Amino acid sequence: MSFTGASILSIEQFSLDDVERIFAVADRMQPFASRERFTKALDGAILGNIFLEPSTRTRISFGSAFNLLGGHVRETSDISSSAFVKGESLQDSARILSGYSDIICLRHPTSGSVEKFAKYSRVPVINGGDGANEHPTQALLDLFTIKKELRAKNRDINNLRIALVGDLLFGRTVHSLCKLLSLYRGISVVLISPPELSMPEDIIESMRAANIQVNDCEDFYKGIGDVDIIYTTRIQEERFENKEMASKYRGKFVLNDDIYTKYCSSDTVVMHPLPRDSRPEANEIDFDLDSNPNLAIFRQADNGIAVRMALFALVLDVVDQVEKTSSKIQWYVSRK
Ligand code: CP
Repeated sequence: MSFTGASILSIEQFSLDDVERIFAVADRMQPFASRERFTKALDGAILGNIFLEPSTRTRISFGSAFNLLGGHVRETSDISSSAFVKGESLQDSARILSGYSDIICLRHPTSGSVEKFAKYSRVPVINGGDGANEHPTQALLDLFTIKKELRAKNRDINNLRIALVGDLLFGRTVHSLCKLLSLYRGISVVLISPPELSMPEDIIESMRAANIQVNDCEDFYKGIGDVDIIYTTRIQEERFENKEMASKYRGKFVLNDDIYTKYCSSDTVVMHPLPRDSRPEANEIDFDLDSNPNLAIFRQADNGIAVRMALFALVLDVVDQVEKTSSKIQWYVSRK
């Protein structure tokens, strides 16, 4: 695909070459993401960062990535402080906001809403999560992390075995990740969820059509026992019509040090898009795993900066300007 001026709405728009191009640019962004160098490639550019659902990682890392490229960020982080609550349509909002920005990131509670917004926007739009549908930039940073974690173990993605755990019905990150894994060969996926929260059939079918080996596993302990990566997720209670129902599923798949030691291979990597639900009744990944070197969740979140910088640089066509306009940073940087 041509990235220049393109909206990033779904994983389905990418070929394998496109994904590898994003990752190659993300690798070049590492000195900037790790605060060794600073660039002015996007000096003067404005990001409209519009988040109409709660977010910590996606909103802040989109903003930080844009700032690290030298650009400026204008935000809406609360639907109640925007004109959406006065009945303004997606169409009008897109027309207005695209006059104020060079690029827009939008998170919205409704599936398909970001694509609709993009139709009326005069500037590129990046999907920061649309309802239970997709979260394409999360999947990109997840796969970037998977490849890095495997590389650290002298492995590559060929023959990857991954368990996807938790709310696979409403979890948009796993929907996008499955589509992304479908670009690769020799992958096997184990799906572990309550039957009522299982992966949508169309996504399973498209994985199988792409020669991914897909297995449902009702036994959590068996399912996590023979994989390279465990990717666990939160019960998406905000998507339940009856919020009380979510409590039925919380705490069903707890991963802690005892369980990891007993059932997993000693080098199984543990991932989660975060936030992990750390309430005692949920506790998807116990704090007692935090000292396990195979817990990749914080490295995964950090990788969001380089991947999102890469997307901005590609879409706004400044990849070649990033190094040229860069300098060593002047401020103190903690290296802890
Ligand atoms: N992973 C993710 O989308 O996190 P936030 O909801 O905090 O953005």
